[in-house]
Amino acid sequence: MTSLPTEWTRDELLESLPVVEPLVAGGVHCHGGFDEAGRYVSPRTRNRWTAIEAWQQSHAEQFGRPLLDIPLESWPEAYPNVAQATFLVGAGVSEPIISSLTRIGTVEGFGAMIRYSLIPDFQACFEEDVRGTALTHLDNGLFEAHARDEAGYGAEGGHKQMWFAARDIAFEHPVTEDQTEVMLQRMGITTAGGGRGPMLPEPMFDDIDPNLEQLIARMASLLLIEISAHHIFAWAEEVLADPELVAGDGEAARLVSYIRADEAPHVAYLKTVLTEMRDRAFVTTSGGTRPGEEVVGTLWERAKGESLGIRRQQNLALAVREVEHAVSGNPRRDDLLEEFHSLGSIRPTASGEWVSVAPAGY
Ligand SMILES: [Fe+2]
Ligand SMILES: [Fe+2]
Repeated sequence: MTSLPTEWTRDELLESLPVVEPLVAGGVHCHGGFDEAGRYVSPRTRNRWTAIEAWQQSHAEQFGRPLLDIPLESWPEAYPNVAQATFLVGAGVSEPIISSLTRIGTVEGFGAMIRYSLIPDFQACFEEDVRGTALTHLDNGLFEAHARDEAGYGAEGGHKQMWFAARDIAFEHPVTEDQTEVMLQRMGITTAGGGRGPMLPEPMFDDIDPNLEQLIARMASLLLIEISAHHIFAWAEEVLADPELVAGDGEAARLVSYIRADEAPHVAYLKTVLTEMRDRAFVTTSGGTRPGEEVVGTLWERAKGESLGIRRQQNLALAVREVEHAVSGNPRRDDLLEEFHSLGSIRPTASGEWVSVAPAGY
């Protein structure tokens, strides 16, 4: 048995470590802070990591199965890539990068919706005991910590505010609130009414509680967003670290590195919960059971297909539209677009298909 405790209160999972200096991002007080050695400390990690480790150990001891995972290399590099983004900003076409950062910040803020998830009685959903699992802590601190990390809490900014601060530092307050709204609408994102709920996918099982199935589907797609965001975050950190290119002497890139550090517990607890369910037997509404491998496996594969397929295609189309929009009135439009595409590892054809190209400039 693991010697680490597997039962935690909501307050314990929300507790932060002490810091000697708070994080102030572009004048906004944010979560987290710095220890005596000047190292960044993520918020609400006083117990969260110990708890996640305990749940993972306890699961491995009971079930002997590895954590659900997906290699980072499953996703291609960010689009536009670093060379393309550097080219655009250097050519005075910063708008696509500004809208990208605005979009990331806004979508991060939607992460707070996780706290409104409908939570079933988990013990009734599984044949095996669920005590001492991450699963039973979802509505007892884990979702709330995640929501606060993404959207901020009270007077304290979270990732949403940190991305906006990174953008404002790097590009010296490029947009007003009204312009932000127009930009988001152009990208098909609206913030009206406090955020957009995720579209509900078709149910895959007629004998599993639909709320439970929805919860699993949502966590699977959230986990994939969290993991694949690694590439976008690495991209942003590299572009924003270039003092020749953007303002702020690397401050914007440092902010992104803090956000990346905060994401690690999100990835860890979501993997743990999905694994705990995968290795148990689901109790069906007809009183039978279904292997967790089948239920979680099916929903995971569907989410993976969407992340690597339709969502990737939509993001690519959106990115190109933003670049085309930004150069639309520019007398050098065609040359700029051609050079932009020549720096990519993929490019769109006239019919909107994407083809691989050998990147130039390397
Ligand atoms: Fe985040
Ligand atoms: Fe996150």
